[in-house]
Amino acid sequence: MAGLPGRGAPSCLLPSSRGKSCAADGNLGVYRKMSYSCPLEKENRVSSASQCLKRHSAFASAGLEAWALARRASAGDSKGGKLAGKAPVAHHPRWSLEDIPYDHIEHARIAGSQDWFYLLAGASFVESLSDLYTRNLREYYRQNAAASAWLGEEWEPEEVQHGRALREYVLRVWPEFRWDEAYARFVEAYSPLCRYDLLGPTPALEMASRCVVETGTSSFYTMIQHASPEPVLSRLATRIRADEVHHYKYFLRFFREYQKKERISRWKILRELWRRVSEADQEDSYLAVKCAYETSHPGQEFGIRDFGGFRKRMSGWIRKHYPFEMAVKMLLKPAALPPVLNRLAMPVLIRGARLVVTGSQN
Ligand SMILES: [Fe+2]
Ligand SMILES: [Fe+2]
Repeated sequence: MAGLPGRGAPSCLLPSSRGKSCAADGNLGVYRKMSYSCPLEKENRVSSASQCLKRHSAFASAGLEAWALARRASAGDSKGGKLAGKAPVAHHPRWSLEDIPYDHIEHARIAGSQDWFYLLAGASFVESLSDLYTRNLREYYRQNAAASAWLGEEWEPEEVQHGRALREYVLRVWPEFRWDEAYARFVEAYSPLCRYDLLGPTPALEMASRCVVETGTSSFYTMIQHASPEPVLSRLATRIRADEVHHYKYFLRFFREYQKKERISRWKILRELWRRVSEADQEDSYLAVKCAYETSHPGQEFGIRDFGGFRKRMSGWIRKHYPFEMAVKMLLKPAALPPVLNRLAMPVLIRGARLVVTGSQN
């Protein structure tokens, strides 16, 4: 979802952390198998991702440098003040569940809204499953000590914390909800769709895909921050949003380091970004909402049509609060378009994003 990853109306329905490590196709229930093709091989022969990484381990050092320098920079070490001539990733304030004033939730403002319940319960499931996505990504980037360390030490704990924080919010507002039971259903339904062999065709392109995913989550929580009828939820969304933007910056940095070696054409990057935007992620949104609904309504089935109705009901405030311009700017960054082209493309793409997300350009 999310940043717009996903097809059809509100593809921003829920945050998605998985990227292409999961196998769902844009059409629900249809999965495809992708072969692995390494573009660095002259003969472009098909190989496994792990073989490719072994061959091209030079990327590891570039990524390690990126991570180490950026880390030193955020710790205030002057040696890390520059990363490959670019500004470091800014300092990132840490937070915990103790920082969220759950005791001050204004229940009457939100407890009566079933749509908010499904949206937040679903988001808590998707975020909570981040350990599975991280496992796949760390395996994929295992030759890159920097990326692997960052994924394990920062990215995963922060994503899992998003899940815990949202779970806590949901259970404070809707204490009767059997969260653990619904989450177990979601894990069972969704885990088989997360596969290592579906990660990006090259390390750089997978990093570009991750930028798309983090664009989606950043946009999603920006929207929640502004649309929330309840102030504590708005504050929680503000915290999570800051993390997601920070993740985006790291993935973009890793992407740029890989790109120096891979030198992928702008066209190919744009194609990959577009593919990532238009692929998949409705599947996790659908399954997450379905599991929340069916746990709350034993014996009742939640189908695609019900999901369509849910999306339609939310499209009004999504149209009003979704940060379309921010999302498009973030999406385009990996392509590094010339400024003139970027300026010309923006209005068209923002209109297109509105159409994709809400079904209307207004
Ligand atoms: Fe997250
Ligand atoms: Fe994230």
